[in-house]
Amino acid sequence: MPLETVISRRMSIRNFDLNVTVPWELVSKVLWAAYGYSWRGRTVPSFSGYPVIIYVSNETATYKFVPENQSLTLWKNGDYRGLGGGYDAPTQLYIILDANICPDILWGNAESGCVIQNIYLMANALNLGTVCQYIRTDIHQGLGLPVNEKVLYKMPLGYPLPPYANYQNLMPTSRQSSPELPEIQDSNVSLEEALDSIFPSHDWSNNSVTCQELSQVLWASYGYSYYEDTTASPPIRHRTVPSAHGYYPMKVYAANSSGVYEYLPEQHNLTTIVTEDRRPSIAQASGNAWASSAPLIIAVAYVEDSRPWIGGEETYVEVGLITQNVYLESTAWGLITDWGKADADEDAMKEALGLSGETQLHPASIITVGHPSIYFNLTISSTIGGATNPMSGTYTYVNGTSVYVTAIPNVNYELAYWKLDEINIGLENPVLILMTGNHTLQAVFICVYNLTVASTDTGTTIPPPGTYNYQAEFSLNVTAFPNSGYSFDYWLLDGEERKENPITIIMNANHTLKAFFVDDIPPEISAPVQEPPENIMAYQNVTVTVNVTETGSGLYNVTLWHSINNGTTWTPLNMTKISTNTYQTTILGHETCTWVTYRIIAYDNKGNQAVNDNHGYCYIYHVIPEFPSLIILPLLIITTLLTVIVYKKYKIKERRAGLNIKCRKRQNPY
Ligand SMILES: Cc1cc2nc3c(=O)[nH]c(=O)nc-3n(C[C@H](O)[C@H](O)[C@H](O)COP(=O)(O)O)c2cc1C
Repeated sequence: MPLETVISRRMSIRNFDLNVTVPWELVSKVLWAAYGYSWRGRTVPSFSGYPVIIYVSNETATYKFVPENQSLTLWKNGDYRGLGGGYDAPTQLYIILDANICPDILWGNAESGCVIQNIYLMANALNLGTVCQYIRTDIHQGLGLPVNEKVLYKMPLGYPLPPYANYQNLMPTSRQSSPELPEIQDSNVSLEEALDSIFPSHDWSNNSVTCQELSQVLWASYGYSYYEDTTASPPIRHRTVPSAHGYYPMKVYAANSSGVYEYLPEQHNLTTIVTEDRRPSIAQASGNAWASSAPLIIAVAYVEDSRPWIGGEETYVEVGLITQNVYLESTAWGLITDWGKADADEDAMKEALGLSGETQLHPASIITVGHPSIYFNLTISSTIGGATNPMSGTYTYVNGTSVYVTAIPNVNYELAYWKLDEINIGLENPVLILMTGNHTLQAVFICVYNLTVASTDTGTTIPPPGTYNYQAEFSLNVTAFPNSGYSFDYWLLDGEERKENPITIIMNANHTLKAFFVDDIPPEISAPVQEPPENIMAYQNVTVTVNVTETGSGLYNVTLWHSINNGTTWTPLNMTKISTNTYQTTILGHETCTWVTYRIIAYDNKGNQAVNDNHGYCYIYHVIPEFPSLIILPLLIITTLLTVIVYKKYKIKERRAGLNIKCRKRQNPY
């Protein structure tokens, strides 16, 4: 939003949504505006070397703002937002004066006025709200501040409650104008941009300040908003600055080569005081000899009356509020500004202004405004594929102005780089151009397409899943990597199945690519451990234990199939898990001389089958007869020999008959 809109929307907010905290990011913006550093200095001017300190309190702690590195340091744990009372808000700012830096309490207040005005404006620009409160009791002690730190003001910060939420209560109305002061125009400079470019300087050219420029800066100094606050009945217009008790005791005068004029905020008009050039005498009387050739001098004075605070700290704050607005509006209109005290010799100042008869009037300060002595041109252009903000064209800027230019790429384009005076300066966006000479700047765009890579969770890809931008016609390989236990299955490239891995993608359009994986790897079954391994007696149970490993979809079951009729029929025994990967079952005892044949089959959850059948021969044991132990060994030898002979004969017979043993033939007993 243009600076003029922000200034015009300024108002004090006193009711805040206590349930919504102000994000640190926004608190940071407000603090930066208040007292931060810009590329060319600070966001506010200072006479005395920056004496203001800001403490920030939220529900958990109070922090001290460190403008030098835009950070906060913890000051005190605990909730100190309630110190001194005032309006409750999620965040409270305490505005403090370091009296070691600025012992003059009145001018310290004036300097704090610049800070306070920026807090008002930035809060407003962010749809937050604030109000300056003259609250001092308890704060110094409560926060445990050093003696040199004087509490000045307390400012709540939060989201306004209805009807002020988002400043809906403000309705645009006509913008005032008069023959001397034309209607206020929007500058197209944001508050941030103006704050970033504030540069106190009196290196002005001979060019006079135009009527439009005069109108803009006087309006900003003390004018009326061009919005109506509809919460009041009848609706009211707020002023561009706040004022203690809403009293507005200040007077603003403009002095140029043709005379001295008083600004009349109500009519947005001028009334003539003298019709001769009084600038040299104003400069002299105020003690600011440097100001004598200023194209425009704005003099700020207050009118004393019975109200006790007039002429005190709150009045000097208003000097700062006005000054800050003049700085901001001047900066937005390419003008340079400087500030001088003017309260040392009141009589001389009043005489210089042509106001000697005004006994209640007290001149306080002057602000000089002028065109800077040097201008430079910036010519902006862009290639096909995008635009810029400011748009292509030639713009004139004051020497030393910082200009932000933003590249805005079209769909499927991105900024390749900026060309400043034919040199590639990278692709920071927006780019900051410091106008200390004429420049040409071109935004160079390139066509890009995006590739969205995805994968099922059973594998991954290289490059990893995500969305990538590639220059048009760029070609790249994408490789699928299955997780352990899985194999690559296929890709879906823009919905079409593709089998190659890696796959080559040519970036001639936006593409989506997804990798799919399959579990086609069966479990692994170790050699079984049989207990007892031999000499199995009649009706003695046999325990069989195996290790089964499966890394893919997980194990479905492990089954031991055994046969006591040489594989003619098979009986399943479910193997139960006894520890990680270890499965066990028991084959019940059989009568003497039984040959027990067994093998193990495991399935994973995807139906992959693993068979351990001793390479086709199955595992076999024999239930031995119960002979005395002395003859067991010879008997066993004989039995084994006989078995081998019988088995070989049987195999020969089978081979002759063209058959194989049933165990080897039968693959799946299910
Ligand atoms: C130095 C100063 C002190 C102020 N102190 C208080 C205060 O203690 N309490 C309060 O509610 N408003 C305070 N205000 C805000 C004014 O009351 C307010 O600016 C004025 O009423 C005009 O209203 P507006 O800011 O909404 O346009 C203060 C303003 C200034 C500039």
